[in-house]
Amino acid sequence: MDDARELSRRTALALGGTGALGGALILAGCAPSDSDGAGGSGTGTDAGGDGTPTAAAGEDVAALADIPVGGSISATIGGEPVLLSQPTAGEVVAFSAICTHQRCTVAPEGAALICPCHGSTFDFATGKVEQGPALEPLPSVPVSVDGDRVIAG
Ligand code: FES
Repeated sequence: MDDARELSRRTALALGGTGALGGALILAGCAPSDSDGAGGSGTGTDAGGDGTPTAAAGEDVAALADIPVGGSISATIGGEPVLLSQPTAGEVVAFSAICTHQRCTVAPEGAALICPCHGSTFDFATGKVEQGPALEPLPSVPVSVDGDRVIAG
């Protein structure tokens, strides 16, 4: 009798243990999805909102001579990728190189600004969309020419 009672007590403990373990597994199973939910919205890293450099006024960006007249080059301002264009000799304009479609980095190619991800093209002198899927122009970034240098701001 005692043996049988002892056995059923052990069985109950074992089952209880399994139940607790099962509960722990269920909780553990929930943890990753909770983490995913919290981490899913934390992918944005741009402090400037749309990738437009904001606090780099005065930064020496490039030599004027490095920008072809009628073309563009890639550069950075405040650590953000930009495109510098020289539509006419001595006139320099800059745009954020972050594509307004899905944020790939737009690159100069001849007189065109082309996004490698889905093929959007932008006017090198104005940043306006020439071909989608992007709908919005590349944001303008203020620059000025100081002698033979291009300066942010
Ligand atoms: Fe540039 Fe899609 S991210 S065209």
